[in-house]
Amino acid sequence: MQSLRWKLILMAAAIVVIPIYFLNQQAIRSFDLYTRTALEEEMKGNANMAGAAFLAYLQAEETEKPILAPALHNVLSSFQEYGKDFNARLLLLDNRGIAMFDTREPPEKGKDFSNEEAVLEVHEKGFGAAWSTTGDNKLTYYYIAVPVGNPDSPEGIAYIIQHTNPIIGAILRLKSNQTRATAAALLIALFTSILIAFTLIHPLRRLTQATHDFARGEPNVKIPERGKDEIGQLGKSIGQMVEEIEKRNIYNRDFVTTLAHELRTPLTAIKGATEILEESKNLPLEKREKFQANIRIETERVIRMVNELGELTRLDAETLRTERETVDYSVFIRQVLEKLEPAFDQPHARLVSEIPEEIIDVNILPTRIEQVFANLLENAFRYTPSEGKVTLRVETSPDGEVRTDVEDTGCGIDPVNLSKVFDRFFTTEPTGQPRDHGSGLGLSIVKSIIENHGGTIHVKNIPDGGARFTFTLT
Ligand SMILES: Nc1ncnc2c1ncn2[C@@H]1O[C@H](COP(=O)(O)OP(=O)(O)OP(=O)(O)O)[C@@H](O)[C@H]1O
Ligand SMILES: [Mg+2]
Repeated sequence: MQSLRWKLILMAAAIVVIPIYFLNQQAIRSFDLYTRTALEEEMKGNANMAGAAFLAYLQAEETEKPILAPALHNVLSSFQEYGKDFNARLLLLDNRGIAMFDTREPPEKGKDFSNEEAVLEVHEKGFGAAWSTTGDNKLTYYYIAVPVGNPDSPEGIAYIIQHTNPIIGAILRLKSNQTRATAAALLIALFTSILIAFTLIHPLRRLTQATHDFARGEPNVKIPERGKDEIGQLGKSIGQMVEEIEKRNIYNRDFVTTLAHELRTPLTAIKGATEILEESKNLPLEKREKFQANIRIETERVIRMVNELGELTRLDAETLRTERETVDYSVFIRQVLEKLEPAFDQPHARLVSEIPEEIIDVNILPTRIEQVFANLLENAFRYTPSEGKVTLRVETSPDGEVRTDVEDTGCGIDPVNLSKVFDRFFTTEPTGQPRDHGSGLGLSIVKSIIENHGGTIHVKNIPDGGARFTFTLT
């Protein structure tokens, strides 16, 4: 939980910071490049201007030089004025690279500059540019040298040195502005993402808490289902699941209670009979035999119930899809009837089949559907006098559904019981009778099997008397 929140926040921060960082870098780089180029152009212009005045001075007659010198000094001093901020220095060199004029105080007149990188370049390329940084990396110096007079054999060189501090200052200012902007964007991003994380994660936490409580078995757990968004939906489906589990729990509880109750009847009968046999040693033989028979019958009843319950639990857990086979339904029914016929009580009512001629494919688990016929026919024969009739009718519908009726002409079902006959343990058979049926599980097994096949089953009383069970298969 914690980690999800932090993941969201980190993600939002990264989305904001990473592009801003790269954009800033790009902006600063192009600003830097632009200003440096502009600076170089400007320095070149200044050098050319001073160079022109210098050329006039160089080309003048010796006698005219004292007149021209003040004009040249004017140019130099106005440059000095201009270049204060950049610590700019203008040197006018003769054609050997020796300084004739220097704007620095004190001037380095007569110093040899011929080995400076930019000065050397003038002779090679007709123009020289170089840069260097101070040892502490704080200042970047720019050097520009231009020829004075004919570029191929210059009469002198105008040489300007200046540092780029103002530009670097501007860049630094830009950088710090951008850092501030980034920080502000980051703050906003963090704030919104924290907000989102909380609004998103809070309901999730409440959901988790509620499901934990439910899992721990706390009573009346309320699953929060607010909102129409995905989390609301999740809440709704968890709510439905909880409801379903609760329903099932109640059902299971009821089932076990009924089961205990149903088992108690035969077990009490067995216990009673054994006690009588133990206590009354001189019981007449025929009575003794009757009690012994009862014990056997009740024990068999318990065994049958336990077997049927086992079957039912298995059906609950079974998904039949994998094991099903496609069979021709009419052939299948004929085989089943041949097999079951001898097992029914004799004499029994007449069995009539009304099955269409054509091939009807059904996708079923044959042993299970055989069980369905066995249980339905057993009931039908039990409740129908031997002069009566039991009809087995198969009909197909155009949408591929196959309907099967098991219809009898017996007593039918008391209308108050119609809705209960499929319930587990529901029976109208009297208990404690020496019969091998009456556990009330037959129809609930039938219903489970049909529903596991994706079909439906229902029962009706028919007008002329008797009951009709109808189930569908596909
Ligand atoms: N064809 C029928 N005609 C009339 N009543 C029926 C018919 N089939 C079932 N019933 C009623 O439905 C009840 C439940 O039937 P179900 O097969 O589930 O149990 P059972 O036959 O009593 O016992 P079991 O099948 O476990 O031996 C029966 O006791 C009976 O009252
Ligand atoms: Mg039955």
